[in-house]
Amino acid sequence: MKNGMKKLIALLLVVSFLSACGKKPEPTAKPTEVTETPAPTEETTPDATPTPTTAGRTHSAEIDAMTLKDRYKDSFKIGVALPANTFRVSMRTEVVKEQFNSFTFENEMKPDSLLNRDATQKGYPETNTEPVLNFGGIKSGLEFAKENGLGVRGHTLCWYSQTPAWFFTVDYQAGSPLCSREVMIARLESYIKQVMTYCQENYPGLIYAWDVVNEAVDIGTGDENGIRKSKNNWYATIGPDYIEFAFAFARKYSDGTADLYYNDYGCAGKKADIVRILAPVKEAGNIDGIGIQCHLSVGDNMRNAVYRTAKYFTDAGYKVQITELDIGTSQKGDRADLVQGMKYKSLFQFIEEAKRNGEINIDSVTVWGLYDTISWRSGENPLLFRMDGGIVKKEAWYGAMQDPNITSME
Ligand code: XIL
Repeated sequence: MKNGMKKLIALLLVVSFLSACGKKPEPTAKPTEVTETPAPTEETTPDATPTPTTAGRTHSAEIDAMTLKDRYKDSFKIGVALPANTFRVSMRTEVVKEQFNSFTFENEMKPDSLLNRDATQKGYPETNTEPVLNFGGIKSGLEFAKENGLGVRGHTLCWYSQTPAWFFTVDYQAGSPLCSREVMIARLESYIKQVMTYCQENYPGLIYAWDVVNEAVDIGTGDENGIRKSKNNWYATIGPDYIEFAFAFARKYSDGTADLYYNDYGCAGKKADIVRILAPVKEAGNIDGIGIQCHLSVGDNMRNAVYRTAKYFTDAGYKVQITELDIGTSQKGDRADLVQGMKYKSLFQFIEEAKRNGEINIDSVTVWGLYDTISWRSGENPLLFRMDGGIVKKEAWYGAMQDPNITSME
């Protein structure tokens, strides 16, 4: 090995060690109010075929010729989270069709997007236990998936965040008192029934997994069992068993073509609590799997964050999916790109191997966004592609492909 190469490897090891020391916790999902999805900026730029290059490095033509979905066709689906406006931008759809065989609406299938406030309020009191929903925002995405053979993850039916406060009040007016437990259970049932029925009737078999409950475990500031209380109107109205009700309704209205998932962030640190809290749901036969979000940073240990966590859930009798993968970095430049690529490589290597060995029961891995500037963590460039005249593969993509030119980190 040339001296220069040795020095580079040594430097990379130091960089990775230092970033591991300064390890930041996974970002918690902020209860961000969903804003209008900004119009896609590249609509004005001409379409371009993605260029299979990254600055300063060469890659084997063999890897370049492959795609993520083909690389993992015998292991798991490869998904991407997309804002619905993606389906108007052919530059994006070309890459999506080429690389992925699953997608998740980044926001449009959340309650604050599907609930029709005006119609629900105007219809009150008839709408008291039958809120009005509007499915206009998910139609183009579901059509795209159907036409192009992508499966869809339904995200998400019951979440403390991105669910409007007015939905929980007696007369659906913001600022009114919260409604009773009975009324809220009925609203939850109606909501879940309407969303699942719309999808199953209009797009049979398209949705293969539902995130029934999202982010309900909050160790530290949750209740005595670790169930999230803070800003959680489901908890405030129904109580801790809102989780059980949501899964029971999802099972009741499911036509059996999709698995029912619990989905959360920070799973490595709270996996035992998640399994404990879900025990009654599992006992009732109303859950199939646990979604490990994986909003990670280059300083995180992939074996711990992903492999051990997925194995723990598998051993507890659950299917697993990686539902929201992104690996952020605070550094910029070629070296930082390479370190990030190594992290992606480790992660994919661990899970592919563990799947092959039968250690983890995983059938889907979803990246949370297509390219860096449209990521919810755009400041940390956490994705597999970047926008640079066109949608360009990063070292992260090559890492995810397990390019032999990229060394794995752990
Ligand atoms: C994020 C979206 O990416 C953002 O666009 C939105 O403003 C906030 O929500 N956990 C989840 C996802 O389950 O739904 C969140 O998505 C990220 C954290």
